[in-house]
Amino acid sequence: MDKKQNWNSSLGFILASAGSAIGLGAIWKFPYIAGQYGGGAFLLEFVLFTLIIGLPLLMTEFSIGQTGGTYSTAIFGKLTSNKIMNGIGYLGNITAFILYSFYSVIGGWIIIFIGYYLLGSVGLIKEDIGFFPYMTASPWLSLLGQFLFIAVTGHIVSSGIENGIEKASKVMMPLLLLLFMIIVVRSLTLDGAMAGVKYFLVPRFEDLSGEGTLYAMGQSFFALSLGTTGMITYASYTKEETNIFSSAGWIVMMNLLVSVLAGLAIFPAASALGIKAEAGPGLLFIVLPQLFSKLTFGTGFYILFLILFLFAALTSSISLLELNLSNVIKGREDKRRSAALWLSFAVFIAGIPAALSFGVLNKVKFGAGTIFDNMDFMVTNIMMPLGVLLTTLFAGYVMKPEQLQRVMPKGFHFWYALIRYVLPVVIIIVFISQLMG
Ligand code: PHE
Repeated sequence: MDKKQNWNSSLGFILASAGSAIGLGAIWKFPYIAGQYGGGAFLLEFVLFTLIIGLPLLMTEFSIGQTGGTYSTAIFGKLTSNKIMNGIGYLGNITAFILYSFYSVIGGWIIIFIGYYLLGSVGLIKEDIGFFPYMTASPWLSLLGQFLFIAVTGHIVSSGIENGIEKASKVMMPLLLLLFMIIVVRSLTLDGAMAGVKYFLVPRFEDLSGEGTLYAMGQSFFALSLGTTGMITYASYTKEETNIFSSAGWIVMMNLLVSVLAGLAIFPAASALGIKAEAGPGLLFIVLPQLFSKLTFGTGFYILFLILFLFAALTSSISLLELNLSNVIKGREDKRRSAALWLSFAVFIAGIPAALSFGVLNKVKFGAGTIFDNMDFMVTNIMMPLGVLLTTLFAGYVMKPEQLQRVMPKGFHFWYALIRYVLPVVIIIVFISQLMG
């Protein structure tokens, strides 16, 4: 594979993988799942899973990627000369494909919201708090948003991802953090905010459940893009001298920070405004317009927020598409454009039922809830943990320790013991305890 993509610099790799991690997972999904599974208790479990499993696993995926240096359906076999191992790569690719198909629905909502507020069709934000149900009830608006989100992602990926993302990230990410801080302050100073702060930060242990624990573990994988081979793919584009060890720590911290900021923006405001924390996937889209309407120049700030939010979602969807695409083109860069086009088309079709789950198909419920909920449940709580489990077993028992040691220079034996003995055991226990309720 001579013509493969490469990052221009180590910073390019860090920004791109942080971009892949930080997205809808931390900003949109984390608050609504935390709201459904007990607030503080969920936060605590999420932080523990992120540090104990997420961090070592991220380092492991990075080292697999950097050492193997090829696309993810070939890399596991290449590292061990055992082709069967490539099954882990195929599983990751299928997971990523399904994930992208419903991810694009939420990305689409952001685009529709931007359009709506830009056109200002109904005037000030204050009066528009009913727009979310209107948008989700309309099949055409939902599908239009999803289509546009996929089209923009496809366009960026088809021109090659290393150019542009790096430059844009340097401005957009810090701006997003800054804007988050502003809204956190506003949220915390609303009358009645304290109840929300307590709900989010103080764990009530009676809220712990096998199901909640599974969701917390799944969320920690989702938010770090683990178990899909996405991080393996990005690391395979690095050169030897890139320090993936410190990159992993940095990405984990950023991701935790954004999740906590999102929670601190949403829960206090929700309690002050009398919106239920259990509102589900619409939580952020219902709470934030009302919160922004309480800021001076609220509409302007809200539009800016939506644009930054969209950017964060796009840097994640780009990684989802890129990982599938790299396995289709297998280094033949001249195929990039056509592969981006037909993969995007396939994802759009696969995502239609998810897009309609909030409107015309909202009565169709089984298992975890709507069609959307079930796709999400299958990916986040079953396929990703399975991918993570297989990856950690692969690294701990199939790869040679020297292959990992090169990229985990500090405290290697500690990481290696975690990967071999702690990670697989914890994941299996969480699965079993969920089955027992
Ligand atoms: N981590 C991304 C987010 O939180 C989602 C993602 C998962 C991206 C898996 C790539 C691979 O938005």
